[in-house]
Amino acid sequence: MKVLALLGSPRPQGNTATLMDSVLEGLSQIENTTITSYTLNDLEIKPCTACDACLGKTDKFCIIDDDMEPLYPAFIEADLVVLASPIYWWSVSAQLKLFIDRLYGLNREENPHYFRDKKIILVLTYEDEDPNSGAELTIKTFKEICDYTKMSIVGVLRYCSGKRHVRECSEILKEARELALFPSDAHTSITVTANVVAIVSDSSPDK
Ligand SMILES: Cc1cc2nc3c(=O)[nH]c(=O)nc-3n(C[C@H](O)[C@H](O)[C@H](O)COP(=O)(O)O)c2cc1C
Repeated sequence: MKVLALLGSPRPQGNTATLMDSVLEGLSQIENTTITSYTLNDLEIKPCTACDACLGKTDKFCIIDDDMEPLYPAFIEADLVVLASPIYWWSVSAQLKLFIDRLYGLNREENPHYFRDKKIILVLTYEDEDPNSGAELTIKTFKEICDYTKMSIVGVLRYCSGKRHVRECSEILKEARELALFPSDAHTSITVTANVVAIVSDSSPDK
Protein backbone atom coordinates (compact mmCIF):
# COMPACT_ATOMS: atom_id res chain seq x y z
CA MET A 1 0.00 0.00 0.00
CA LYS A 2 1.26 3.46 -0.89
CA VAL A 3 0.52 6.21 1.59
CA LEU A 4 0.78 9.92 0.98
CA ALA A 5 0.66 12.02 4.15
CA LEU A 6 0.24 15.79 4.03
CA LEU A 7 0.69 17.97 7.08
CA GLY A 8 -1.31 21.18 6.89
CA SER A 9 -0.08 22.64 10.16
CA PRO A 10 2.80 25.12 10.16
CA ARG A 11 3.91 23.90 13.61
CA PRO A 12 6.31 20.93 13.30
CA GLN A 13 5.91 19.98 16.97
CA GLY A 14 2.22 20.86 17.16
CA ASN A 15 -0.81 18.74 17.93
CA THR A 16 -1.57 17.97 14.29
CA ALA A 17 2.00 16.92 13.49
CA THR A 18 2.18 14.78 16.63
CA LEU A 19 -1.09 13.00 15.83
CA MET A 20 -0.18 12.51 12.19
CA ASP A 21 3.16 10.98 13.24
CA SER A 22 1.32 8.46 15.40
CA VAL A 23 -1.05 7.54 12.57
CA LEU A 24 1.97 7.05 10.29
CA GLU A 25 3.72 4.99 12.95
CA GLY A 26 0.70 2.67 12.96
CA LEU A 27 0.56 2.54 9.17
CA SER A 28 4.25 1.71 8.99
CA GLN A 29 3.52 -1.53 10.84
CA ILE A 30 1.41 -2.78 7.92
CA GLU A 31 3.39 -5.01 5.62
CA ASN A 32 4.39 -3.66 2.19
CA THR A 33 3.48 -0.10 3.08
CA THR A 34 5.49 2.82 1.79
CA ILE A 35 4.85 6.23 3.25
CA THR A 36 5.70 9.55 1.64
CA SER A 37 5.01 12.58 3.77
CA TYR A 38 5.22 16.30 3.13
CA THR A 39 4.92 19.35 5.33
CA LEU A 40 2.89 21.65 3.12
CA ASN A 41 4.14 24.72 4.95
CA ASP A 42 7.66 23.98 3.66
CA LEU A 43 6.52 23.87 0.06
CA GLU A 44 5.69 26.61 -2.36
CA ILE A 45 2.18 25.90 -3.53
CA LYS A 46 0.52 28.78 -5.30
CA PRO A 47 -3.23 29.24 -5.44
CA CYS A 48 -5.27 27.87 -8.34
CA THR A 49 -5.94 30.77 -10.71
CA ALA A 50 -8.89 29.11 -12.45
CA CYS A 51 -7.17 29.57 -15.81
CA ASP A 52 -8.53 26.14 -16.87
CA ALA A 53 -5.34 25.46 -18.81
CA CYS A 54 -5.28 22.05 -17.10
CA LEU A 55 -8.46 21.06 -18.92
CA GLY A 56 -6.78 21.16 -22.30
CA LYS A 57 -3.36 19.86 -21.33
CA THR A 58 -2.14 16.30 -21.52
CA ASP A 59 1.53 16.67 -20.65
CA LYS A 60 1.20 18.55 -17.33
CA PHE A 61 -1.43 18.63 -14.62
CA CYS A 62 -1.10 22.38 -14.08
CA ILE A 63 0.77 25.17 -15.83
CA ILE A 64 1.80 26.77 -12.53
CA ASP A 65 5.42 25.87 -11.94
CA ASP A 66 5.81 25.16 -8.23
CA ASP A 67 6.07 22.39 -5.63
CA MET A 68 2.77 20.80 -6.65
CA GLU A 69 4.63 19.07 -9.46
CA PRO A 70 5.87 16.08 -7.39
CA LEU A 71 2.62 16.02 -5.41
CA TYR A 72 0.46 15.20 -8.43
CA PRO A 73 2.08 11.81 -9.17
CA ALA A 74 2.41 11.12 -5.43
CA PHE A 75 -1.35 11.69 -5.03
CA ILE A 76 -2.30 9.64 -8.10
CA GLU A 77 -0.16 6.70 -7.00
CA ALA A 78 -1.30 6.73 -3.37
CA ASP A 79 -3.82 4.15 -2.18
CA LEU A 80 -4.31 6.06 1.04
CA VAL A 81 -3.94 9.79 1.64
CA VAL A 82 -3.61 11.14 5.18
CA LEU A 83 -4.72 14.77 5.36
CA ALA A 84 -3.82 16.42 8.65
CA SER A 85 -4.83 19.96 9.51
CA PRO A 86 -5.61 22.23 12.40
CA ILE A 87 -9.03 23.84 12.17
CA TYR A 88 -8.54 27.47 11.17
CA TRP A 89 -11.70 29.54 11.08
CA TRP A 90 -14.06 26.54 10.83
CA SER A 91 -12.07 24.98 7.98
CA VAL A 92 -8.69 23.49 7.08
CA SER A 93 -5.52 25.58 7.14
CA ALA A 94 -4.64 27.66 4.08
CA GLN A 95 -1.68 25.34 3.48
CA LEU A 96 -3.97 22.34 2.97
CA LYS A 97 -6.62 24.32 1.10
CA LEU A 98 -4.02 25.42 -1.47
CA PHE A 99 -3.20 21.76 -2.11
CA ILE A 100 -6.87 20.74 -2.34
CA ASP A 101 -7.70 23.53 -4.80
CA ARG A 102 -4.81 22.54 -7.03
CA LEU A 103 -6.22 19.00 -7.31
CA TYR A 104 -8.53 20.67 -9.83
CA GLY A 105 -5.74 19.85 -12.30
CA LEU A 106 -6.54 16.14 -11.86
CA ASN A 107 -10.29 16.52 -12.10
CA ARG A 108 -10.73 15.27 -15.64
CA GLU A 109 -13.58 13.17 -16.91
CA GLU A 110 -11.24 10.93 -18.90
CA ASN A 111 -9.19 10.12 -15.82
CA PRO A 112 -11.61 9.45 -12.94
CA HIS A 113 -9.11 6.93 -11.57
CA TYR A 114 -6.93 9.81 -10.38
CA PHE A 115 -9.32 9.93 -7.42
CA ARG A 116 -11.60 6.89 -7.56
CA ASP A 117 -11.24 4.32 -4.74
CA LYS A 118 -8.55 6.30 -2.95
CA LYS A 119 -8.83 6.05 0.81
CA ILE A 120 -8.65 9.13 2.97
CA ILE A 121 -7.77 9.54 6.64
CA LEU A 122 -8.52 12.94 8.14
CA VAL A 123 -6.59 14.18 11.17
CA LEU A 124 -8.09 17.36 12.60
CA THR A 125 -7.19 19.31 15.71
CA TYR A 126 -8.92 22.35 17.15
CA GLU A 127 -9.00 24.41 20.31
CA ASP A 128 -12.63 24.94 21.16
CA GLU A 129 -14.31 22.17 23.03
CA ASP A 130 -16.44 19.39 21.55
CA PRO A 131 -18.79 19.34 19.83
CA ASN A 132 -16.72 21.52 17.54
CA SER A 133 -18.60 22.86 14.53
CA GLY A 134 -15.34 23.65 12.71
CA ALA A 135 -14.34 19.99 12.75
CA GLU A 136 -17.87 18.90 11.88
CA LEU A 137 -18.11 21.28 8.92
CA THR A 138 -14.69 20.17 7.70
CA ILE A 139 -15.58 16.49 7.90
CA LYS A 140 -18.83 17.24 6.03
CA THR A 141 -16.83 19.10 3.35
CA PHE A 142 -14.54 16.12 2.86
CA LYS A 143 -17.51 13.75 2.72
CA GLU A 144 -18.90 15.86 -0.15
CA ILE A 145 -15.50 15.94 -1.89
CA CYS A 146 -15.20 12.17 -1.50
CA ASP A 147 -18.73 11.55 -2.77
CA TYR A 148 -17.96 13.65 -5.83
CA THR A 149 -14.57 12.09 -6.56
CA LYS A 150 -15.51 8.54 -5.45
CA MET A 151 -12.86 8.46 -2.77
CA SER A 152 -13.74 7.10 0.66
CA ILE A 153 -13.02 8.39 4.13
CA VAL A 154 -11.80 5.38 6.10
CA GLY A 155 -10.70 7.16 9.24
CA VAL A 156 -11.33 10.42 11.04
CA LEU A 157 -9.20 11.42 13.97
CA ARG A 158 -10.23 14.60 15.74
CA TYR A 159 -8.64 16.05 18.82
CA CYS A 160 -9.50 19.06 20.93
CA SER A 161 -6.15 20.57 21.90
CA GLY A 162 -7.66 23.30 24.09
CA LYS A 163 -6.72 21.81 27.45
CA ARG A 164 -3.65 19.67 26.76
CA HIS A 165 -1.14 19.19 23.98
CA VAL A 166 -1.79 15.77 22.49
CA ARG A 167 1.78 14.70 23.30
CA GLU A 168 0.62 14.49 26.92
CA CYS A 169 -2.21 12.09 26.02
CA SER A 170 -0.65 8.67 25.52
CA GLU A 171 -4.08 7.08 25.18
CA ILE A 172 -4.99 9.30 22.21
CA LEU A 173 -1.64 8.63 20.57
CA LYS A 174 -2.23 4.91 21.00
CA GLU A 175 -5.65 5.31 19.36
CA ALA A 176 -4.01 7.24 16.54
CA ARG A 177 -1.55 4.39 15.96
CA GLU A 178 -4.43 1.92 15.96
CA LEU A 179 -6.46 3.98 13.51
CA ALA A 180 -4.25 2.53 10.82
CA LEU A 181 -5.45 -0.97 11.51
CA PHE A 182 -8.79 -0.62 9.77
CA PRO A 183 -9.77 -3.49 7.49
CA SER A 184 -8.44 -2.21 4.19
CA ASP A 185 -11.26 -3.53 2.01
CA ALA A 186 -14.18 -2.78 4.33
CA HIS A 187 -16.26 0.37 4.17
CA THR A 188 -15.62 1.22 7.75
CA SER A 189 -14.94 4.59 9.21
CA ILE A 190 -13.21 4.94 12.53
CA THR A 191 -13.71 8.15 14.39
CA VAL A 192 -11.59 8.99 17.37
CA THR A 193 -12.91 11.87 19.43
CA ALA A 194 -10.86 12.55 22.52
CA ASN A 195 -11.15 9.29 24.45
CA VAL A 196 -14.12 7.91 22.56
CA VAL A 197 -13.54 5.58 19.63
CA ALA A 198 -16.57 4.90 17.48
CA ILE A 199 -16.44 2.44 14.61
CA VAL A 200 -19.11 3.27 12.10
CA SER A 201 -19.97 0.87 9.29
CA ASP A 202 -20.82 2.54 6.07
CA SER A 203 -23.22 0.56 3.91
CA SER A 204 -22.84 2.73 0.81
CA PRO A 205 -20.47 0.98 -1.63
CA ASP A 206 -19.41 4.26 -3.17
CA LYS A 207 -18.24 5.91 0.02
C1 LIG B 1 -5.56 31.21 12.41
C2 LIG B 1 -6.16 30.26 13.44
C3 LIG B 1 -7.52 30.00 13.37
C4 LIG B 1 -8.09 29.10 14.29
N1 LIG B 1 -9.43 28.80 14.18
C5 LIG B 1 -9.99 27.90 15.03
C6 LIG B 1 -11.39 27.58 14.92
O1 LIG B 1 -12.11 28.06 14.07
N2 LIG B 1 -11.89 26.67 15.81
C7 LIG B 1 -11.12 26.09 16.77
O2 LIG B 1 -11.65 25.30 17.56
N3 LIG B 1 -9.79 26.36 16.88
C8 LIG B 1 -9.21 27.25 16.03
N4 LIG B 1 -7.86 27.52 16.12
C9 LIG B 1 -7.02 26.76 17.07
C10 LIG B 1 -6.29 25.60 16.39
O3 LIG B 1 -7.13 24.86 15.54
C11 LIG B 1 -5.74 24.62 17.44
O4 LIG B 1 -4.94 25.29 18.37
C12 LIG B 1 -4.98 23.49 16.78
O5 LIG B 1 -4.91 22.38 17.64
C13 LIG B 1 -3.57 23.92 16.40
O6 LIG B 1 -2.89 22.84 15.79
P1 LIG B 1 -1.29 22.70 15.85
O7 LIG B 1 -0.96 22.42 17.30
O8 LIG B 1 -0.98 21.58 14.94
O9 LIG B 1 -0.74 24.01 15.40
C14 LIG B 1 -7.28 28.45 15.26
C15 LIG B 1 -5.90 28.76 15.32
C16 LIG B 1 -5.35 29.66 14.42
C17 LIG B 1 -3.86 29.96 14.49
